[in-house]
Amino acid sequence: MRLLNLSVLLFPLASVVQALTWTATPFNPASIPLAVRTPYLSAWLPQGTGAALNDVWAEFWDGIIVGWAGFVKVDGVPYVFLGAPAVPSVSFNKATQISFKFTSTQSIFVLAAGPVDLTVTFLSPVEPTDLVKQSIPFSYMTVSAASNDGGSHSVQVYSDLSGEWTSGDETLTVNWTSTTSGSILTHQVQLTNPTLFGEVNDHTQYGSAFYSTPNTVGATYQTGADINVRAQFISNGVLANTLDTDFRAINDNWPVFGLAHNLGTVTSAASSPVVYSVGRIRDPAIEYIIAGGAIQNRTLYFLSEFSTPAAVIAEFLDDYSAALTRANTFDAQVQTDASAISADYAAVVALSIRQALAGIEITISKTSTGAFNTSDILVFLKEISSDGNVNTVDVIFPAWSVFLYTNPALGKYLLEPLFRYQASGQYPNKWSVHDIGAIYPKALGHNDGLDEAMPVEESGNMVIMALSYAQKSGDTAQLKQYSALLDQWTQFLIADSLIPENQISTDDFAGALANQTNLAIKGIVGIGAMSKIWSLLGNAAQSANYSSIATSYVTQWQNFATSTTGAHLTLNYNNESSWGLSYNLFGDKLLGLGLFPASVYAEQTEWYASHANEFGLILDTRHTYTKTDWQLLTASWVTTTAVRDVLVTAVTDWVSGGTWNGPLGDLYDTVSGGPVSGLEFRARPVVGGHLALVRHFFRTGYRSDVRFFAQLVV
Ligand SMILES: *[C@@H]1O[C@H](CO)[C@@H](O)[C@H](O)[C@H]1NC(C)=O
Ligand SMILES: *[C@@H]1O[C@H](CO)[C@@H](O)[C@H](O)[C@H]1NC(C)=O
Ligand SMILES: *[C@@H]1O[C@H](CO)[C@@H](O)[C@H](O)[C@H]1NC(C)=O
Ligand SMILES: *[C@@H]1O[C@H](CO)[C@@H](O)[C@H](O)[C@H]1NC(C)=O
Ligand SMILES: *[C@@H]1O[C@H](CO)[C@@H](O)[C@H](O)[C@H]1NC(C)=O
Ligand SMILES: *[C@@H]1O[C@H](CO)[C@@H](O)[C@H](O)[C@H]1NC(C)=O
Repeated sequence: MRLLNLSVLLFPLASVVQALTWTATPFNPASIPLAVRTPYLSAWLPQGTGAALNDVWAEFWDGIIVGWAGFVKVDGVPYVFLGAPAVPSVSFNKATQISFKFTSTQSIFVLAAGPVDLTVTFLSPVEPTDLVKQSIPFSYMTVSAASNDGGSHSVQVYSDLSGEWTSGDETLTVNWTSTTSGSILTHQVQLTNPTLFGEVNDHTQYGSAFYSTPNTVGATYQTGADINVRAQFISNGVLANTLDTDFRAINDNWPVFGLAHNLGTVTSAASSPVVYSVGRIRDPAIEYIIAGGAIQNRTLYFLSEFSTPAAVIAEFLDDYSAALTRANTFDAQVQTDASAISADYAAVVALSIRQALAGIEITISKTSTGAFNTSDILVFLKEISSDGNVNTVDVIFPAWSVFLYTNPALGKYLLEPLFRYQASGQYPNKWSVHDIGAIYPKALGHNDGLDEAMPVEESGNMVIMALSYAQKSGDTAQLKQYSALLDQWTQFLIADSLIPENQISTDDFAGALANQTNLAIKGIVGIGAMSKIWSLLGNAAQSANYSSIATSYVTQWQNFATSTTGAHLTLNYNNESSWGLSYNLFGDKLLGLGLFPASVYAEQTEWYASHANEFGLILDTRHTYTKTDWQLLTASWVTTTAVRDVLVTAVTDWVSGGTWNGPLGDLYDTVSGGPVSGLEFRARPVVGGHLALVRHFFRTGYRSDVRFFAQLVV
């Protein structure tokens, strides 16, 4: 990661701590995922200490508004339930939020609109074992209504999107088309001058946004200026079925794209839900460097099954009730697995899953005849917020647990573009590359070798993750194919991980140091991992050699890295009072290497027991901040439940503390419990690491029988 332009990243902090007037289950996160499925479909409710669904506008992860409005009429009385629209010409009421609940896939709001309760459900499917479904960049919003006074009431529902879903620059011109006949109503919006593979303020600058709903009896549509389209519904309860063709800038009389339904008479039985889908399609999705510097366009996997946007939208809407059933099953399984640790932990995990999987996109290429090659699957990940790098190795590493849990094959497909690029011989360094592209979605490599150098960090990460995938899957093909690269990186680790030169680790923001204790662990675990890899590949001699090197390094490392008091490991060698989170011991446990003696785990646990700040354990003694992912990776190996729970509680308190309103941030301050000014990491896929404790992972030593949620799908 490398910090780029922070000016767009400064969130206003919630200024007033107010008592919630609704119930929140399991808690109120700083920002609530609404439509969160890809790096570019990422709409959140910035909630802070208590903003209702109709108090504020939805925002893209970086804080830019994405206009999404909703109104309902009950017996002719209008209420707003979504967004913060102003409609000067007419008056309307505000529905009252009664409850909010989130699961791994859903954010569910109940609002009272007079005598009717509305249930508004935002479902962002998590379909990790179905690569077609997982790659569909769409989310659902559904609205159902039920009488809350025993009477019968007439109900109409309206919602719209603005052009803000097409660009990070609201002064740009958009055009739009609407499908107004057939079984589905769809509005499609795009920039009139798109930039292929371009971004502005982290929004994509090409492709289209889609807003759709089934064309059931009484459904109506309208496009036009926000205040006109909304006033039409507020006054009449139906839209005019008219289309505005005066294409203009996003912020020029704000064109909005409205869709309305008549629910008819609603009683105390909940009505069947009105279903809306919101999506963001672009094609090609990724450009990727291949052998000889050639560039390959890559397409989202689902387009191999659906030849048009209309086809995928029809399937997505038609699939809603089955998708909801699958989502409920997934949510329940996650809840069961994570509750084995604690209710707090289960809540953090539930909040992390959509965000983690929304960091990735699943792609395929085309053959020379132009046909899709569905055997050629590569997954791309955007680092998000700290940077826009593509497939950052030290972001995939912390996120790894979510892939192991949901579908380890996603891990293989994330490593593959890194392997393939470096096997092409274009990357000049002897250690592993940091990422395969400075700015998503341009995976153009670093043929100049000038990527952000994290030599020990990334070399260790690659070897560790490659082995981890093979262990979980039994599939050693990737190890075989790239054994030369893996060995090359291990040679580098042998040279530079016992006495690591002055360099940065993944925690680049904390600064460079020589002889970092935790970085040495990463490197030594990497050497131990390569020993296992050679064993799996049948090279017993090299396996034995690397095993003895790793073992001998551990002994020497203990001398260098243990404080002279013997009470703890240091941050860096010979720096007696320094210490930090030794989260890289996670790798030793994950892979079942048993390289580091039990005494190291026990001593560190004991040290941590008496050194936590109010909001958790510091990353290291240079600063008071910490990382949520590293705390929970550490929690996966500490030897007491008490220390594990200190770490879990710390993360829960930060995530639910209301000290800001950004999407789940992985970096925060252990003294204030708030974000770190200038380093407000948010919405990053690294929170996949919060799953490190699912199913007690390592509580009783390494368990090869850990059952992961999904059947492996390769
Ligand atoms: C809208 O702009 C796109 C470029 O994104 C262009 O291809 C298309 O023809 C335009 N459509 C209309 C209706 O003007
Ligand atoms: C990638 O797609 C773009 C847009 O369709 C096209 O202009 C470009 O030539 C393609 N590049 C390659 C290498 O196929
Ligand atoms: C499809 O992709 C696979 C994996 O990259 C490759 O081996 C194969 O040659 C490709 N097939 C065609 C027809 O291009
Ligand atoms: C790193 O640690 C080794 C072993 O203690 C020591 O010899 C060396 O001087 C240290 N290097 C630096 C730059 O501090
Ligand atoms: C073990 O590996 C190291 C590092 O590659 C190498 O220098 C050494 O010669 C190897 N030893 C044997 C016995 O193969
Ligand atoms: C020792 O650790 C402290 C943090 O505890 C750090 O600020 C300092 O730079 C380190 N000193 C050296 C010489 O590395």
